[in-house]
Amino acid sequence: MNAETVIQALGRNLAEELFPAERQLIPNLNDIYELELAFYENLILSDEEMVRNGAFFAQVGDQYTHHFLMCTGESLKLPGHSASRLKSFFEKNIFRTGYATHGLFPYRGKFHPQMIKGLMNVMGLKPGDTVLDPMMGSGTVLVEASLMGIRSIGLDASPFCRFMTQTKIDALTMSLTRARDALVHLEEVFSYFQKKVGQPLPGSKPSKRHMTENVMSVMEATAEYIAQQDHRSLKKKDRDTVNTYHLLLLAYLDSAGYAERSARKKPLDLFRAILERYLFVVEKIQKVISEMEIEPAQAEVREADARSIFLADNSIDGILFSPPYSFAIDYLDNDSFHLNFMGIDSNALRERMIGLRGRNLSEKYEYYKEDMGKVLSECARVLRPGCFCTIIVGTNSNQLSKVFGVSPDQVQGLHEILIDIGERFGLTPIKRMSRPITGISNIMRREYILILQKGTDLH
Ligand SMILES: C[S@@+](CC[C@H](N)C(=O)[O-])C[C@H]1O[C@@H](n2cnc3c(N)ncnc32)[C@H](O)[C@@H]1O
Repeated sequence: MNAETVIQALGRNLAEELFPAERQLIPNLNDIYELELAFYENLILSDEEMVRNGAFFAQVGDQYTHHFLMCTGESLKLPGHSASRLKSFFEKNIFRTGYATHGLFPYRGKFHPQMIKGLMNVMGLKPGDTVLDPMMGSGTVLVEASLMGIRSIGLDASPFCRFMTQTKIDALTMSLTRARDALVHLEEVFSYFQKKVGQPLPGSKPSKRHMTENVMSVMEATAEYIAQQDHRSLKKKDRDTVNTYHLLLLAYLDSAGYAERSARKKPLDLFRAILERYLFVVEKIQKVISEMEIEPAQAEVREADARSIFLADNSIDGILFSPPYSFAIDYLDNDSFHLNFMGIDSNALRERMIGLRGRNLSEKYEYYKEDMGKVLSECARVLRPGCFCTIIVGTNSNQLSKVFGVSPDQVQGLHEILIDIGERFGLTPIKRMSRPITGISNIMRREYILILQKGTDLH
């Protein structure tokens, strides 16, 4: 045994060897892929950029980074009924997920926002650039980009995703006066939505009361919000009204989802707890935005098909997205309550949803490849030459093994299939990272981060 070698080795500090002393890593950084992203971020960002947009560092010299400030403060409020498992998930993930408006709706398959911020840095995106997420889901890329000063465009085939993302974006800057008022008149607001949207299955009815004019007139005036695709052109007062309506509705739908899964709490109490939490997180991020003088960048949210993108050739500085994990998650089943409420024909939508088309697994698999071919060819078309397209995709070898009737370790992973398709359209893989999936309930074990570059000779 050579004790001296051991002492020498243990006397060294990994972070100090990798990073300059004045750049302090964020606490709770546990995974190797995070250290890897921090490593690249450190190489790519100047001190000023690190303070403004760094994802994995808490301090540069004596300055706290915006990310650190956005995440710290009072720990996130969870509904009182939350199982301790859920609570510890949020606390553990305070720097990864539980900040800004990301937690406003529990959308399955959502990105880790911190990782998205880190990846946008690693892709060289800067304030003023434009990033595209052609399958935005709950809008993680758009919210992060907006806070980083990066313009963004998000598409999703599901109208519910458009609604959810738009609400999260608007919540960064909306006036909260009326939403706070709604908390005071909670029972009225709740019974209004019960009538309008429908009743969550188990649980109780709130006591009937006469509705006060001032709160409910705000609701009624905008109840037909779905018809409005774009409300940026509205006057400030009307925009506040629409934004308030959207935030309350999202909280209601969120509580209805909880109520369907749990009969332990009364729906009204769930609604109160969720709305309080929404207001708490939105106030928190708005405070940082104002204190740090952050100007959220424009985010364009569209209900659209990623297989045929409306953008011009070579017009986008970066693409970052996560395709449906093949057939692992039936997004339509997950959202059925919300889609029904929005009057959406799920069968027609199913035909547009990648991963859901087809009658059986092998047909779905064929459609999936065909559809992802169209998406990647569109990505390659709209991306500027030399820029990067990052895809995050989970392994689903168990499912694919059923399609082919072979063992899971014999199938080509979805990430490899996507790399092959990307290469056909001039997207060259330059980096592949993988990370364990640590969500609360997930049937996949690893997720791949694939960074592809569009060749400079393609115009
Ligand atoms: C894995 S999720 C994306 C989650 C997202 N990254 C987030 O952070 O919430 C994949 C999304 O692709 C959407 N999608 C499926 N088919 C689509 C299509 N043809 N065009 C656009 N989006 C589609 C689904 O509605 C779903 O929201």
